[in-house]
Amino acid sequence: MSVFPESFLWGGALAANQSEGAFREGDKGLTTVDMIPHGEHRMAVKLGLEKRFQLRDDEFYPSHEATDFYHRYKEDIKLMAEMGFKTYRFSIAWTRLIPNGTGEVNQAGIDHYNDVINTCLEYNIEPLVTMFHFDMPDALDKRGSWSNPESVDWFVNFAKVMFENFGDRVKYWLTINEQNMLTLVGPIIGTLRIPEGTTNVLKEVYQQNHHMLVAQAKAMVLCHEMLPNAKIGPAPNISYVYPASCKPEDILAAQEFNAIRNWLYLDMAVYGKYNNLVWTYLEENDATPTFAEGDEEAMKNAHPDFIGFNYYSTATVQKAAADDKLDPGADQQSSRGEAGYYKGYANPNLKKTEFGWEIDPDGFLATMREMYSRYHLPMIVTENGLGAYDTLEEGRVHDNYRIAYLRAHIEQLHKAVTENIEMMGYCPWSAIDLVSTHEGIRKRYGFIYVDTTDEEVGTLDRYKKDSFYWYKKVIESNGENLD
Ligand code: BG6
Repeated sequence: MSVFPESFLWGGALAANQSEGAFREGDKGLTTVDMIPHGEHRMAVKLGLEKRFQLRDDEFYPSHEATDFYHRYKEDIKLMAEMGFKTYRFSIAWTRLIPNGTGEVNQAGIDHYNDVINTCLEYNIEPLVTMFHFDMPDALDKRGSWSNPESVDWFVNFAKVMFENFGDRVKYWLTINEQNMLTLVGPIIGTLRIPEGTTNVLKEVYQQNHHMLVAQAKAMVLCHEMLPNAKIGPAPNISYVYPASCKPEDILAAQEFNAIRNWLYLDMAVYGKYNNLVWTYLEENDATPTFAEGDEEAMKNAHPDFIGFNYYSTATVQKAAADDKLDPGADQQSSRGEAGYYKGYANPNLKKTEFGWEIDPDGFLATMREMYSRYHLPMIVTENGLGAYDTLEEGRVHDNYRIAYLRAHIEQLHKAVTENIEMMGYCPWSAIDLVSTHEGIRKRYGFIYVDTTDEEVGTLDRYKKDSFYWYKKVIESNGENLD
């Protein structure tokens, strides 16, 4: 008998902007991520040094075709069903539903997601919908993106359109994917927008963060009002933070980064209040956000039903001196720092992926334990996986490295369940290959290989990797057969 409950949601995840392609079809509006080229202008555009408002003829944009999920969803969901998926986590592109972000609703977008949802249900796959996964409508970016206090209403309106149209069938909702990464590493994700003339960037970024927190809170309340049987939760990227040593100053640094990276987002989602360490840090840097009337109440009124979280690795930090020069080029999982507070430290006990991310399955258990003891809510893993260079050989990909990564993490998930941590499901990243946020499609994550490259669109044919057959057995045995 399995330790996992019968209802455990084994599945996998994708995001619209990384998999759908068809970036201008079906009357879809442009998003900020549609504007990020792959070639030499990439970082300059992301960092805002070059304008991203026009598409360039001399650049290739892998996300424009991506893996063409928009046209191939029937074939792809069938493959997910063949693996035995109980759930499929995907995001809805805001600009397919509302091309300008606000205003007119686009029937073609509604029809498309209705088809996707209905196809899932035909295979008894529970749709798990992410409302926002990095793809800010370009029209709203031009109006200030999350810096604009109206962004709260924009998002709540978008939520309402989704609840009205899909709420009869979608029972599980995720609000904002990795809000903590949007705040901490915005340029890497390609969504940072700092208004011209800003003098205190940290304050501006945390004001944006505040708007997202309020937007999320209001969307959760609205969900409960409109859809009493639905469940909704946040989806941050949680990496438990270790101290680099047992020096007391490193312990304090790890507590501070844990608060800034992780607990700020969950304390707010669950308890409706700012984490005290983060608030102190913001005060010390003249960066506390301004509250609009009603914000405090809105945040207090919201209660998630569960916590979704993405886990790739832990982080390790040590105390940073006030005059430390720290590398700003960090991504979601690589070391970064904050002079005077903490700085990243390469954990010598951990191996790394080909793309430099540490691999820490034990840390996955540490993260689940810590989260459960802080929040006591059911949890679902909304992303976990290995980005690697895969090679297609005679129609197969022998990705034993991916199997090893996932096996080691599922073993820890298994332990968590035996420790009575309420785990609802597991959605590895990614169900099918997709375009990575900042490393192109050459960094592959899927159980299914897609024939395409960062330089040109390929046949887009699908091939089952070895991990596809392995995961199918894992699901069949409800998590007991990991061989
Ligand atoms: C998470 C995101 O940050 O990690 C995904 O939610 C992303 O969108 C995933 O693809 C892996 O990161 P990357 O940078 O390798 O694509």
